[in-house]
Amino acid sequence: MEASDTLDRQSESELYFPPESIQQNANAQEYDKLHAFSVQDPEAYWGERAEEFSWYKKWDKVLDDSNKPFFKWFVGGKVNIVHNALDRHLTTYHRNKIALIWEGEPGDTRTFSYFALHREVSKFSNVLRSMGVKKGDIVTIYLPRIPEQVIAMLACAKIGAIHSVVYGGFSVEALAERIQDAQSKVLITADGGWLRGKIVELKMIADEAIARQGTIEHVIVVKRTGQEIYMEAGRDYWFEDLINLPVANGLNAPTEVMDAEDPLFILYTSGTTGRPKGILHTHGGYMVYTATTLKNVFDIKDEDRWWCAADPGWITGHSYIVYAPLLVGATSFMYEGAPNYPYPNRWWRMIENYGISILYTAPTAIRGLMRFGDSWVKRHDLSSLRLLGSVGEPINPEAWKWYHTVVGGERCPIMDTWWQTETGGFMISPLPITPLKPGSATKPFFGIDADVVDEEGNPVKAGEEGYLVIKKPWPGMLRTIYGDPDRYKEQYWSKYGNMYQAGDSARKDEDGYIWVIGRIDDVIKVSGYRLGTAEVESALVSHNAVSEAAAIGLPHELKGNAIHAYVILKAGQERTEGLEEELRNHVGHEMGPIAKPDQITIVDSLPKTRSGKIMRRLLKARAMGLPEGDISTLEQ
Ligand code: PRX
Repeated sequence: MEASDTLDRQSESELYFPPESIQQNANAQEYDKLHAFSVQDPEAYWGERAEEFSWYKKWDKVLDDSNKPFFKWFVGGKVNIVHNALDRHLTTYHRNKIALIWEGEPGDTRTFSYFALHREVSKFSNVLRSMGVKKGDIVTIYLPRIPEQVIAMLACAKIGAIHSVVYGGFSVEALAERIQDAQSKVLITADGGWLRGKIVELKMIADEAIARQGTIEHVIVVKRTGQEIYMEAGRDYWFEDLINLPVANGLNAPTEVMDAEDPLFILYTSGTTGRPKGILHTHGGYMVYTATTLKNVFDIKDEDRWWCAADPGWITGHSYIVYAPLLVGATSFMYEGAPNYPYPNRWWRMIENYGISILYTAPTAIRGLMRFGDSWVKRHDLSSLRLLGSVGEPINPEAWKWYHTVVGGERCPIMDTWWQTETGGFMISPLPITPLKPGSATKPFFGIDADVVDEEGNPVKAGEEGYLVIKKPWPGMLRTIYGDPDRYKEQYWSKYGNMYQAGDSARKDEDGYIWVIGRIDDVIKVSGYRLGTAEVESALVSHNAVSEAAAIGLPHELKGNAIHAYVILKAGQERTEGLEEELRNHVGHEMGPIAKPDQITIVDSLPKTRSGKIMRRLLKARAMGLPEGDISTLEQ
C-alpha cells in the first residue's frame, strides 16, 4: 500500500498525448471499439490473432472452459513457439535481419542474424538431445545475461523440453530449491558473469546447490570469464566443447511438434506463503499473447531496435527479451551488466551507439540513473528513441516526468505496463494512442476484462481502493502451479470463484484509468524484483543463531521497498558484535544479494495472532509510525 502515499493524485488530471506522428502510424488503432469487441468475444479476437502464426495443425477450439479454472487455449492445435520465433523467419527477408545485438559489461559485443541464432539454437538442441534430454524433461538454466541464455532457452523449447530459468542473481538455497522442485537432471550454467567489474561466481554457487540436492546428472558450463573453475569429471562439460562435437552439427535439427497446451517453461516466483511456486506457461497461448501484446503496446516495426533491459531470468525477460521480439521478427538489444558501470552514462552511450528506438525498463532503474543528474544523459544523442516503457512496480510521477523529459526529450510516450509472472504478458497498459497519466498503467489490453472490486467481488466506486481482478481468461495466463494444481486454484481463483485475483490493490479513476497501488500479500517488491517474506525468513532461520524471523518491506526512495527483518535469537545465543551484518550476509549467500535485508533488528518477541501467525502488517505499521489498525487478533 505504501506506494499510494507517493502517488500524487494531482497527476490524475494531467494528460500527456503521444505525438500525432506516433499515433497515426501506430499498430494499434481504435482502442475503445476493439477493446469492447475483444472482451465481448475473446474467442473471435484471439482466434484472429492466432491466425497470424504458423501452426502444424490448426486448433479445434479457441478456448475450452469446461474445467474452470483450468482453462485451455487453442485446443487440438499443433505448434512450437520456436518454429514461429526462428524457423519460419528463415524463408523470409528476416533470414538476414539482426535478431540480437549483445554487449557484455567489459565492452565485448556479439551480433546474431535470425539465420545465425537459428543455427546456434539448432546446434545446442542437438547437444541436449544427444544427452538424452527429451520432450517434457525440465532443464534448469542458471546463466548470466549472455546470448547463451537465450540460446539455451530456445534450444529447450525446440526439442519440447521445459526450461526452468533461475535468475543469475539468486544464490545457493534459491537455486537448490528450484532444482529440487523441478527434479531437473540437467543444469546449464557458466564459469561466471560480469557485474560491476567483478565476477559473479555462478559455478561455485551451482556446485554448492547441487551438493544440497540429488537430481542433477549433467552440468553444461558456458565459458564467459575464462577464470579457473572446478569441473567434475563425468558430470560437468564445457558448452563450447559440446557444440563443436559432430553430433551438434547440421542445421536441420528437427523442431518438436507440440500440442498448443504442452508446457513451454516453468518460472518460479514468490507467493503468499512458503516456497516459490513454479508458474507454468504453454507453447500456444503464451506465443499468441506475448507477440500480440508486444506488437501493439510497443508498436514494433521492422526498423526498430528494441531494448528490454530486464534479465531473461525473470518473466519480463522471458516474454520480452526472448520470445515476443523473435516472434514478431524484431531486432533486440541485450546488455550483460550494471547500468552505471563503468560510468553512469553506460545506458545512454549504448542507446546512442546502437540507435535504440524503444527502451523498456523498471522504475527502480530510472530512479537510480536519475540520481546521477541530467548531465550524464544530455551528453548523448538519444534522438533515436521513440517510445519508452516501465514495468515491475508503480512509477512515481517524479520518475515518470524525468524519464519523459530528460530521457525521452518530451516526444516519447511512456508505456507503463502492469502484469505479472502469472499473466505471461502485458495486461494493463497504454497503447501509443492512449493519453497518458503519469503513474497510471491506464487501461486493460485487448481481450482483458480488468476491474477493481471489494471483498464481495463488487466493483468499487471511482477513486476507491479495492482488489485488482481479471474477469475472463486470456491466452497468456498461467495454466497451473507446477506439481500443485490445488495451490493454483486456491491462490488465484478461491476468493471470488470466477475471477482471477492478482494480489494487488488498485483504484480506478473517473476516466476508467487504473492505478495499481501494490501487493496486498506477503510479497515484497525490492527494486522491482519479487521476493517473498517467507523466503527471506527461512534464509534467516537457517542460520544457527536464529530461532524466529519476520521480514517486511518498508518504502525506499530508490528500491521502491527495502527489506527489514526482525529476528529472535536462539536461547543462550549471545548478541555478538557484528551479528546483524553476519545475518545479512547469510541471507545474501542463501538467497542472493537482492534479498539482503537493509536492516536487521534483534528482538525478544514478535507480534503474533492467537493462532501463532506473525502479524507483519503490525510490524510495518509500527516501523512506519502509522496507526496499528485492527489488533483484536493480537496475542497479548
Ligand atoms: O505488484 C505488481 C507489480 O509487480 C507484480 C508482479 O511481479 P512479477 O511477477 O515479478 O512480474 C513483474 C514484471 C511483469 C504485480 O503484482 N507490478 C508489475 N508491473 C507494475 C506493477 N505495479 C505497478 N505498475 C506496474 N506497471
